[in-house]
Amino acid sequence: MKLEITVRGPGEGGSYPIEIGPGVLGKIGNRIADLLGKAPEKAAIISNKKVFGLYGEHAAGSIASAGPEVSTHLIGDGERFKNFRTLERTIGFLLEKGLGRTDVIVALGGGVVGDLAGFAASIYLRGVPLIQVPTTLLSMIDSSVGGKTAVNTGFGKNLIGTFYQPRAVLIDPSVLSTLSEREVRAGLFEAVKHAALSGQRLLAATEAMISKLESGEKSGSTETNALFEGLGPGIGAHIEFKAGIVSGDEREKTDRVDARSRKILNFGHTFGHAIEKITGYRSLLHGEAVGHGILFAAALSNNLGLLAEHELKLLYDVVHRVGPLPPIDKIDPREIFATFEYDKKRINDTVQWILLEGIGRPVIVPHTQIPEAAFMSAFKQVTNH
Ligand SMILES: NC(=O)c1ccc[n+]([C@@H]2O[C@H](COP(=O)([O-])OP(=O)(O)OC[C@H]3O[C@@H](n4cnc5c(N)ncnc54)[C@H](O)[C@@H]3O)[C@@H](O)[C@H]2O)c1
Ligand SMILES: [Zn+2]
Repeated sequence: MKLEITVRGPGEGGSYPIEIGPGVLGKIGNRIADLLGKAPEKAAIISNKKVFGLYGEHAAGSIASAGPEVSTHLIGDGERFKNFRTLERTIGFLLEKGLGRTDVIVALGGGVVGDLAGFAASIYLRGVPLIQVPTTLLSMIDSSVGGKTAVNTGFGKNLIGTFYQPRAVLIDPSVLSTLSEREVRAGLFEAVKHAALSGQRLLAATEAMISKLESGEKSGSTETNALFEGLGPGIGAHIEFKAGIVSGDEREKTDRVDARSRKILNFGHTFGHAIEKITGYRSLLHGEAVGHGILFAAALSNNLGLLAEHELKLLYDVVHRVGPLPPIDKIDPREIFATFEYDKKRINDTVQWILLEGIGRPVIVPHTQIPEAAFMSAFKQVTNH
């Protein structure tokens, strides 16, 4: 399966292909040469020890066979390494290797590697070609598409970064066979987020992915590549949805509040980011925080009279079908509320909530319009489940 998307925008804009299919990993070298017009002299793979240990040799071999001299920089594994220190070391590595503007950076890993390598690629020599090779479900359907790059600081997640489009996103779903079940579920929570925003069709495609994985668990065949290769069409449907949104609003215009604004992709994230921050980015995976965030935003929408009871129930059922979420009942909701006050005063003009008037019907509501009582009651609903 091959999917071609176009991301338009001010400045250079341009389009890039997203290719999904088994065996993609072994063809990276040829694809890079095609995409760049000729094989670059040098290629730098940014990855981490775990992913590189599993797929690095295969990927590096493919690149080297097309001509470039390949070097590898491994960053620490985990969200806490997505920071300025890692960025500086990565840039240092690129300088040391003498990577030039016609060379290429290949990000091989999940969202942490992709966000960090993307940031590095965007500022190194003011921008060098980047190829994203996402290896987690979350990074395949979400973070590798749309060009947002980032690092975290003590002030919050993803506050520092750039918009920088890759030359291509190359996806081999069979690599998901080595991903832990918990990480697969984390990706599925982001998939439910897309489905809630997009409507019944994507919801059905998402449920089909969940069913496929459930059947794999039952038959004990989660290790087989075929099972994950079968996720290709579902992954493609999610990418098409995200690509459609980001194409129409490449840089997330601050004044847009319509239902196709890029901001809607933050559904589940206002709450999700707050609980990630409060728990010190330790006990929850990003996707799990989003899982809680979906439940919270849906409950809040229902409390405000926007979302019908049966659609609320439908969303709760899908989230719970994906799997268990780590408990968050130890968190004080007033502390979460305070986080938004902080954001409001210092960084963004107003915190905006992405709520639902129905499945597939997002609406943007400023935080100032959310009564504290509705907020606290939504929190209770989420923690009681
Ligand atoms: N840029 C964006 O638009 C965007 C969107 C959503 C999320 N994000 C970011 O993405 C990050 C989360 O990404 P993630 O969920 O991919 O986490 P991750 O990159 O930390 O990967 C999760 C874990 O899986 C391991 N792993 C990766 N691929 C594997 C494979 N094939 N087999 C076995 N293990 C593998 C990693 O080493 C890691 O331990 C967050 O930092 C989030 O902010 C960015
Ligand atoms: Zn996310």
